[in-house]
Amino acid sequence: MKKVAIIGVGNSKFGIRQDVNLAELTFESVKPAFEDAGVIGKDIDLLVLGSVGSGGWYEEMLPAVIAAEYCGLTGAGLLRCEAACASGSAAVFTAYSAIVSGNTDLALVIGLEKMREIDTSTTMELIGRAGYYLWEFHNFGMTFPAYYALYATSHMALYGTTEEDLARVAVKNHKYGAMNPLAQFQREITIDDVLSSPVVSWPLKLYDCSPITDGSSAIILASEEKVKELGIDTPIWISGIGSSSDTANLSKRLNYVGLRSSVIASQRAYKASGIEPGQVEVASVHDCFTIAEIMAYEDLGLCRKGDGAKLIQDGQTEIGGKIPINLDGGLKAKGHPIGATGVSMMYELTKQLREEVEKTRQAPLNNYIALAHNVGGTGHYCFVTVLRR
Ligand code: COA
Repeated sequence: MKKVAIIGVGNSKFGIRQDVNLAELTFESVKPAFEDAGVIGKDIDLLVLGSVGSGGWYEEMLPAVIAAEYCGLTGAGLLRCEAACASGSAAVFTAYSAIVSGNTDLALVIGLEKMREIDTSTTMELIGRAGYYLWEFHNFGMTFPAYYALYATSHMALYGTTEEDLARVAVKNHKYGAMNPLAQFQREITIDDVLSSPVVSWPLKLYDCSPITDGSSAIILASEEKVKELGIDTPIWISGIGSSSDTANLSKRLNYVGLRSSVIASQRAYKASGIEPGQVEVASVHDCFTIAEIMAYEDLGLCRKGDGAKLIQDGQTEIGGKIPINLDGGLKAKGHPIGATGVSMMYELTKQLREEVEKTRQAPLNNYIALAHNVGGTGHYCFVTVLRR
């Protein structure tokens, strides 16, 4: 198998981006990624774009073709991947696989979503379909916050996790988001702010939810030969990717205190990269709702099942703790343009491993091992990626 490295990264400002159209938003991340790697569009063999939106959030049906034309890649191989909120990671996996197999030497991966062209209730309706529309949406009127609220109440009942514990995740992620110029929300919040914010689906309140976001992210992947040819001095290697899935219908899940696909995907990723969870020094995990981050701690093996709340109470997932998590603000504060998020995790962790982020939010590193955990739906898809410098 060929080795694959990330050699260039770029990320747009996340937020409400009515100042740009889809192509311009894409270029905002692709341009810095090109400059970072020292390549241009016509050097790229393959473009893989992760996005959910066409037919719903934005007007274009063929976003990969639009992106390729605008960024000077017409003629490259083109693909679009959909895996709900893990579409970005699915795109990374696809491009990685093309290089591992020897098919391609240089690939561009773009994550893209423009979600703010329609109103919140229409978005809620679209995301509410991220389950089994036939059974859940019609019969029970489920929305996406309601799906995760089921998990939150179950975790609270079984392990004693409290609304304050959930709020702690939001407070931590807003703290780091405040240090990240690319984040949608750059302000700190308190536990009281979270607890007194409007209830969306109990126990989840406004500040327990990730926002609805426009954004793009881009990374350039290269084979080892290409890394040498281009003289890249700090390649970040993809050391392993694990993926998994779960039932469409939530009533068929084993339990509601964790995501089975996260457990399996992480075990596969650890095996593929030959590491143990304890070796990870910085991570981006899928905190679409605060409960999702607590479950991720447990599902990824960073603590025992049921001890996730204790990890955040003890400050173990902040800088100075055992395993700093979501130092870019996470989905909660950086924002969650759903197709872009998985690629944006690679952007952030590449910058962390190169020690290029703002000093106040740089994780201390010894072995230079990072992990990205990206969930689609309520664990309907999951990708876990291990990166090493
Ligand atoms: N966290 C913190 N603040 C938020 C927020 C969030 N998630 N969402 C909105 N806000 C703030 C806005 O900045 C705005 O503040 P302002 O009045 O000071 O400008 C205010 O709350 C109202 O914003 P608005 O955009 O009108 O919010 P909304 O009521 O339309 O939507 C949610 C709020 C929580 C319903 C929406 O963000 C949501 O559905 N989030 C979940 C998205 C999701 O399911 N993604 C997929 C997960 S995998």
